[in-house]
Amino acid sequence: MATPDICPLVDPYWAFYWPGGQSLTRFLLDNGQIVRGSAVLDFGSGCGSASMACVSRAAKRILMNDIDQNALLAAKLNMRLNGLNATTIRYTDDNLLESKEIHTMIYNLYQDVPASSRLLLLGDIFYDSNFADTVFRWLKRVKDEFGVRILVGDPDRHPLTEEKVLQGYETEFRKNLLVSYALPGYVTREHYGFTTAHVYEIEF
Ligand SMILES: C[S@@+](CC[C@H](N)C(=O)[O-])C[C@H]1O[C@@H](n2cnc3c(N)ncnc32)[C@H](O)[C@@H]1O
Repeated sequence: MATPDICPLVDPYWAFYWPGGQSLTRFLLDNGQIVRGSAVLDFGSGCGSASMACVSRAAKRILMNDIDQNALLAAKLNMRLNGLNATTIRYTDDNLLESKEIHTMIYNLYQDVPASSRLLLLGDIFYDSNFADTVFRWLKRVKDEFGVRILVGDPDRHPLTEEKVLQGYETEFRKNLLVSYALPGYVTREHYGFTTAHVYEIEF
């Protein structure tokens, strides 16, 4: 089996189907009524699994965002390999967290759908607490502007669970558990022993 150290590309996070991405993708596939007709921002889209679920469940429009261009390329290839028609998808490698104004592509994405059909997806993004702090600040801005539903897939990494870490965030939030899935044995072995992955809805 190939190991990450022989990969010629830097930090190939797109080459993995992360536990949080797995739970989020499963949830979207199982709850097509949430996805149908929605406008979706897939933040840190990686291999593209959550967006693929949204294509197959008839989302109206999807914006895939990953700062790694290789991730976006891999996601396009994965779409094709899975026979999914990706005409409703736009891609951006812009760092949405850095722009002072809310990015124009987000306005264009959400403009003509009701708030209940505006989805913001984050699969396994909360792996570092400093990064999480920045992400939560940005999420609140997007939530305040568009009233989006924020859905997070995560195996309960420490930035989402440790009380001390949670208290240190600038932005207060609530995470409402929607569903938990047991992870298959090989996923548990590959991902440091996580046995379960969850889907949370984030509220402020
Ligand atoms: C752990 S992977 C998760 C990928 C995918 N969502 C999944 O669950 O399989 C995190 C992804 O976030 C991307 N990422 C990191 N910082 C980002 C940022 N500021 N904006 C967008 N994507 C970012 C990485 O390139 C990587 O593909």
